[in-house]
Amino acid sequence: MNVIASPATHYSRLVRVLHWGTLLLMIAAYATAELRGLAPDRPARMAVMQWHMALGLLIWLLVLPRIGARLVQPAPAIVPAPGRFVHLAARTAHLLLYLFLIVQPLLGLLTAQSGDRAVTIPLLGFTLPNFVGLDRGLHEWTEDLHVALGKAFYVVIGLHAAAALAHHLYFRDNTLRRMLR
Ligand code: HEM
Ligand code: HEM
Repeated sequence: MNVIASPATHYSRLVRVLHWGTLLLMIAAYATAELRGLAPDRPARMAVMQWHMALGLLIWLLVLPRIGARLVQPAPAIVPAPGRFVHLAARTAHLLLYLFLIVQPLLGLLTAQSGDRAVTIPLLGFTLPNFVGLDRGLHEWTEDLHVALGKAFYVVIGLHAAAALAHHLYFRDNTLRRMLR
């Protein structure tokens, strides 16, 4: 079966699976970062952070085929078509979300490696080579940016999800159904 081809009424299966799969990974990545303080001791906190980093790297890996699939297949039309402003707002939000999915994991990796923190993938036990090396200056600004972007995107993701629901429940168009099936 061709996983990229799909009827023009819906996003391709590949894009849909990656979209909802990424949502689950994002919830887990946010939860591990935000709730790591609940771990009983430092080794447990470090283990939780290893999960955070591995989940984040997986998110980065999955956005690449997703963008590829989207370049091959344009977004299916929304019926009835929204106004130009809504269209532009949605395009801008999607662009920001894609940028976030690419940049945020890379900033996280820079933060960890410039702080000389080993990135070991849980279950596989594989440690990434350190591409950066200890660099306190780089560590401080990538850490600040990684944390700040993480917080800022609560708002962007929240607005994105709210817009999808508003399309479905209020405008009663097929915006959400195109991503479901
Ligand atoms: C889309 C993926 C990611 C999201 C949404 C995300 C989000 C976050 C958030 C919200 C925090 C701050 C938590 C707090 O308030 O203390 C954080 C911290 C952190 N993240 Fe990520 N992250 C992602 C990917 C990564 C990756 C791939 C790595 C490393 C390979 C990483 C490494 C770190 C580190 C080291 C911290 C701790 C920074 C500190 O010392 O406060 N993150 N992340
Ligand atoms: C409950 C949460 C979410 C809901 C209900 C939701 C719903 C949707 C829907 C209905 C679409 C297609 C809509 C359109 O054309 O405007 C879409 C597209 C998209 N979503 Fe989400 N989403 C959620 C979470 C997320 C998250 C966490 C991310 C990434 C951080 C994300 C990234 C994207 C991107 C990049 C697109 C654009 C697809 C494209 O046209 O290339 N979404 N989402």
